[in-house]
This record gives sequence, C-alpha cells and structure tokens, in this order.
Amino acid sequence: LSACGSSQDSSGDSKKGSSEPKKTLKVGTDASYAPFEYMDKGKITGFDVDFLKAVMKEAGYKYNLVNVGWDPLFVELKNKTSDLGISAITINDERKQTYDFSKAYFLSTNEILVPENSKIKSAADLKGKRIAVQSGTTGQEAVEKLIGKNNKNIKKFKQNTLAIQELIHGGADAVVADNTVVEDYAKNNPNQKLKVIADKKAFAPEYYGLMFPKGSKLKPTFDKAIETLYDNGTYEKIYKKWFKV
Ligand code: ARG
Repeated sequence: LSACGSSQDSSGDSKKGSSEPKKTLKVGTDASYAPFEYMDKGKITGFDVDFLKAVMKEAGYKYNLVNVGWDPLFVELKNKTSDLGISAITINDERKQTYDFSKAYFLSTNEILVPENSKIKSAADLKGKRIAVQSGTTGQEAVEKLIGKNNKNIKKFKQNTLAIQELIHGGADAVVADNTVVEDYAKNNPNQKLKVIADKKAFAPEYYGLMFPKGSKLKPTFDKAIETLYDNGTYEKIYKKWFKV
C-alpha cells in the first residue's frame, strides 16, 4: 500500500475582492475509509472529498488534500503542519482537549462486522473473541470499553482496510468500525459473505467534524460555510450522490 503520501490539488476558487489572497490550505486525510475517503484510480475520492470541495469553494480557499494516514494526521494537526483534517473524524471530548472541530456534518455510530455464519449477535458476544480495529479510532475505544483496555484479543491496525483483511483471513472474529463503512464493505463485497450487527445500547451516536489545530482561526469561516451548504441544498445533493436515499 503506497497510497500514503499521495496528494492532489483541488479547485476551490478563491473569492475575488478580499484584500489579501488567502493561502492554500493543507488538508490531511487517511484515504482508506470508503465511502468517506479512499483511493480510486490514484485519486482520493469519497463523500468527505466532495463535501470538502464544496466547503472550500464556499469558504473561498484553495487547498491541497494529502493522504497522510490516520495517526500522522493527529500529529500534523498538533504540530500545525496541516491546516485541517477531514477523515470521518468523530468529535469527542478527549480530542477537543487538543483540537478544535467544526460544526458536525455527519451522524455515525460503531457497528460490528462478522462472517455471515458468525454466532456473534450483539456487543456482549464480543467477550472472548478476537476483534480487529483501526488503532486510534472510536472503534478501538468502544471495544476497550467492552472487553478491557489491555485485552490481548484486541488486534490493532493502521488502516481499517487491514482490520477487515484480518477478519477475512480468519485472524479475527469481528471488526468494529463506523456503521456506514462496514455496511458499505459488506454490501460491495458479497463474495466475502459478511454481515453487520448494530447494537444501539453498546455503541453511542457520534458526529463527524472537520478537525483543526487548537486555536485555529479557520473555524468560524468553515462553520459558516457548512451552514450555507445545509441551507442551499448542496449538502443534500452530495449526500444523495453517495448514499442514494
Ligand atoms: N470515526 C472514527 C473516529 O473518529 C473512525 C474514523 C477513521 N477514519 C479514517 N479515515 N480512517 O475515530
């Protein structure tokens, strides 16, 4: 996997008339999380990518979307070497101590991905099972809450796609990750014979946001841009393109 480090320039016409030209923003992502951000024919694509493009256009910024990877993304924003991140990032209190977030733009929750013939029926059944997660995600956190933080049965991977491969190859009994992502995978790979299990009692609702370095001056502009995309129907259009409701 050599997707990491690839980058692409994108539009987002700078609005004319402002006194000084706005700088080109560096945006970090982990493009291994379909349908939100993933590589397709060498390009980063997905719901987040379309949403970002619309937000940037509305905010009047040019930008460069870079596939830095999940853990490095947090380092980049901490060190302020990226201006923002978009990566299906859940807004939570722990992250808020170190980063700032935009307004929420997507509702999510964790879900369990298992083989079709699995006996696992709920989160409680994960006890004693080997569970693959992407490290540093709310999925990892949710599993730790269920079976204990240092439980050896938690198998951590740098990318969610690798956690899913572990399940497919029989090295894990389940994957816990964002509902939209595991549902998308099961549906688009019917030959793998996987199914998803929701457990509303075990897994709380989560909201995605754009993530900024703490104290970033960009937040108000981007909150306003997101609000406009909700109001003028652009958000709905992008949503329908990816989720065909
Ligand atoms: N929403 C989850 C979180 O914030 C998982 C996001 C993983 N995103 C990614 N592009 N790999 O922890």
